[in-house]
Amino acid sequence: MKRPNPEPCRENDIGKFEIVSRDGAARIGRFYTNHGVVNTPTLLPVINPNIRTIEPRKMWDEFGVECLITNSYIIRNSEELSKKAIDAGVHELLNFPGAIMTDSGTFQSYVYGDIEVEPEEIIEFQKRIGVDIATMLDVFGKPNLDFDQSKKIVEETVSRSEISIKSAEGMLLNGPIQGGLFPELRALSAEQMSSFDFSIHPIGGIVPLMEKQKYPELIKIISSCRHLIPSSRPVHLFGCGHPHLFAISVAMGIDLFDSAAYALFARDDRLIMPWGTEKLENISEWPTASKTFFEYSPEEVKSLPKAERTKILAEFNLEISMKEMARVREAVRNGKIWEYVERKSTEHPSLEIATKILLDCSEDFEFMNWVEESTKIQKSRGILWSKNINKHPYVKAARNMLSNNFEFPKKDVFGNFVEKNKWDIILIHGVQGPWRMKCKDLINKLINKFKNLQILVQTPIGIIPYFLEDLNPFSHINGPSDIWNFNEEDLKFRYNNLAKVHGDSKPNKVVDELIQNGFVQSDLELSDDEIETYFDKYSIISKTALFTQLNFEVAENWLYDSTYLKGGTNRIRNVFDSSGEHILSPRLEDGGISLTVKGAKKLFDYSKDNKCQIPIIKVDEGAVPFVSKGRNVMHGFINSVTGTLRPGMPCLVIDDNDELIAHGVCCCTNSEAIELKKGIAVKIKSGMK
Ligand code: GUN
Repeated sequence: MKRPNPEPCRENDIGKFEIVSRDGAARIGRFYTNHGVVNTPTLLPVINPNIRTIEPRKMWDEFGVECLITNSYIIRNSEELSKKAIDAGVHELLNFPGAIMTDSGTFQSYVYGDIEVEPEEIIEFQKRIGVDIATMLDVFGKPNLDFDQSKKIVEETVSRSEISIKSAEGMLLNGPIQGGLFPELRALSAEQMSSFDFSIHPIGGIVPLMEKQKYPELIKIISSCRHLIPSSRPVHLFGCGHPHLFAISVAMGIDLFDSAAYALFARDDRLIMPWGTEKLENISEWPTASKTFFEYSPEEVKSLPKAERTKILAEFNLEISMKEMARVREAVRNGKIWEYVERKSTEHPSLEIATKILLDCSEDFEFMNWVEESTKIQKSRGILWSKNINKHPYVKAARNMLSNNFEFPKKDVFGNFVEKNKWDIILIHGVQGPWRMKCKDLINKLINKFKNLQILVQTPIGIIPYFLEDLNPFSHINGPSDIWNFNEEDLKFRYNNLAKVHGDSKPNKVVDELIQNGFVQSDLELSDDEIETYFDKYSIISKTALFTQLNFEVAENWLYDSTYLKGGTNRIRNVFDSSGEHILSPRLEDGGISLTVKGAKKLFDYSKDNKCQIPIIKVDEGAVPFVSKGRNVMHGFINSVTGTLRPGMPCLVIDDNDELIAHGVCCCTNSEAIELKKGIAVKIKSGMK
């Protein structure tokens, strides 16, 4: 089975990195090279050019490998290999049509001591043999070194950068981040290395940690430097290839991994399983399905001659590793990477501790804030409840959005003004939504009986107002029934009176109890339709405030008298403001909103008066004719950003004269808007022309 060779990418695109899908800091990307696109996150198998346990061509054809890594220092030191590589190129030498990355000899200096090559020499050599991505000669910062020794290593690596970039003459180059176990040195290294024109930043010096399974240390290293690396450059975890580390690393923003483990473990008769390693001798039944072992029993594999056995074990190890990476990519695409990280964390005690450090933010708040800010809040799928769900960045971002932007209405259902903190609250708990279907009778009865009343609902990830009952992710959580019970920790707002009411309660019994508890009765009676209109109104006001960062009171004044067109299931389809303009439509799939041109214009006016903080992107003159006609804003055409962009949230687009030219949904954060040079930055809903 031969897979076609890749097409070289357009010259203009070589070295660019594009994000095509994401879940917070985890990204599905495309890195453009002379030998095709490398889809990330991915694992680069290490090829020892002297011992090719699996043929590189087979890796391309049968394992879907798009990029591999080999060692230029080893090739250079062998007369035969270096002659062939210089004459025919490294792709011919290895018989691999995809992208080839080479390392520089740094790892050999760590293993064997001094090596005989200068920084420029090894770059020159990598250029001569035609690699796609070369590596400068960095200094390996061992984790057992002290602060001063580690600092010298960072400085020495930085000092070699300029000459390495110069010698590379445009060849794509890795600029490794060193700094041992010292967060401040890792940060310093990331900042300084980022200032040079490298294409990829590997995080180096971590192999000894992985060999001893010191995952908490690894997590601390990544969190001290990852957010300081430009988003336009993939980040590689040098020497990390164990599948149980893929999910957590990808969740932290790692794009590339490399591994010799598939071959090294095979030589020791060890199998890489997605959950850890197993010895062949201990296996009597295959515990996981694989193409490689489809026709073999464990006993048959055990009885193969050594060379043959090593080869087949290596193939199994590579197959499992590639499959686990595919599973991680799927989790990213489905917005479930943190769910998967939590599940994987139970596979190794050290991984469990590392995951806990990360989710508790007990080490580096800045990094986790960075993850949270890049997280989409509105997802169209539900989430699966887990023990640590409230610590997942996606859930934290949703909770923060609600607590930062939500306010109680100014009037109750009867039109009485109510001061903040003076509301009487009924907290519905114990039942899963949709509450408008399950608890409508109870709620309407209570609403009609009492003044100054707000209804809130307990969800497993926090308390929400009843009028936001369809807001994702709060409304879309799957899990056992007791997760919907009252949670004291979520009660953070101030109120006059509070009663917790189980959603299955009998209305009359609750009314009696509330009267006894001092809830003030009303003498008015409203119809179900009037009550529904009140909740509809505040659903729209509050969603507009949440998603467009419009001041709540301004939203309330603007939309209090809005009218609606409803669909067959009685859900609002279109919202018209008091002058009859269609300004937005609620999105049924995730509880969000979609603006219309009129709505976007109004928000733009509010933003000029500082009443709305909706983010605004100013695009390059060249992009204006396209964007104003409704084409997407592409990276590379953004001049500046005001406000805070969040993937999945609405934003406005203006030209150089500060005229509104379009509105849409953004796909990036502020730093990505400036740093990325390829891909879609804003999916435009409508241009103004
Ligand atoms: N391979 C594994 N770790 C490293 C490192 O720190 N630097 C380089 N160049 N290669 C590595």
